[in-house]
Amino acid sequence: MNRESELLPKIVVLGSCSVDFTTYAPRLPKPGETLIGTKFITSYGGKGANQCVAAAKLGGNTFMICRLGDDPWGDQYKQHLKDLGVDVTNAHITPNITTGIAQISVAESGENQIVIVPGSNGHLSKLDVEKSADLITNADVLIGQLETPFETTLEAFKLNKGIKILNAAPARKDIEEILPYCSILCVNESEASILTNLDVDISNATIALMKLLETGCEIVIITLGEKGAVYSSKHEPTPIHVLCNPVTPIDTTGAGDAFVGALATFLMTQKNYPMHQIIGAACDVATISVTKEGTQTSYPTKFNASDKEYKYLYL
Ligand code: RIB
Repeated sequence: MNRESELLPKIVVLGSCSVDFTTYAPRLPKPGETLIGTKFITSYGGKGANQCVAAAKLGGNTFMICRLGDDPWGDQYKQHLKDLGVDVTNAHITPNITTGIAQISVAESGENQIVIVPGSNGHLSKLDVEKSADLITNADVLIGQLETPFETTLEAFKLNKGIKILNAAPARKDIEEILPYCSILCVNESEASILTNLDVDISNATIALMKLLETGCEIVIITLGEKGAVYSSKHEPTPIHVLCNPVTPIDTTGAGDAFVGALATFLMTQKNYPMHQIIGAACDVATISVTKEGTQTSYPTKFNASDKEYKYLYL
């Protein structure tokens, strides 16, 4: 770390790095069906690294805590993050384990299906949290997801003194223990549905937000794709819907990660802005990402978060 970056707010991501194997086809296959695709791409992914790269591309001072495999992908991935300006001091290569992978299908409509095999991501342990305790404790923003062991993320969230963002993806139910430690819980509609036992969409978002706030987190954000996002907080519980401009999606993979990385960055760079402006700008970054193929490759580098008035409504 150089002296300049020592002074900047630290965005620390504890989470997954995976290699994405993505096929593009006219539509998603049905169970048992074989489809002829149009393209195949291998790229850097994993929700943790995607969020870290989204923040780094927007100028965030980023640090990645992760486990990569001791296959060629591990070293290549570490170098890739380094090239993007991410601090990889705490990106560990794990002996005798392969790097995590994701098999992704993308339809012409932009929607996707993903199967992940965690590999080295499953080896990110409490010991790794101990090794990085100083960085984790003093991170201005700590981001976690659910592609690496839950107990590791929980341990890190207990330590951190800054803003803790949990992106509860992929969806799972049994995460109540971490929720009181979350400054921000960020979920999409299907993740919110699993956590609340509701079929969440804009029509019942108020109830979902209230249910999620009862779990102890300070702020809850539910992203709604092209409809923007809704949020509510302990201190100002009236739910707010931030609108976003719809676009024709090419590939929605990693849009949620773009949102989370942008949110973390703008919370640091736009500190005095109201929350709806920060969420609106993060929605814009996610929207840009769906207009291009891939995950990290679709994230913008140039984005002015302060030059727009975002529309919002009280629900
Ligand atoms: O959120 C998108 C990511 O989910 C992909 O990059 C893939 O690796 C899976 O983890």
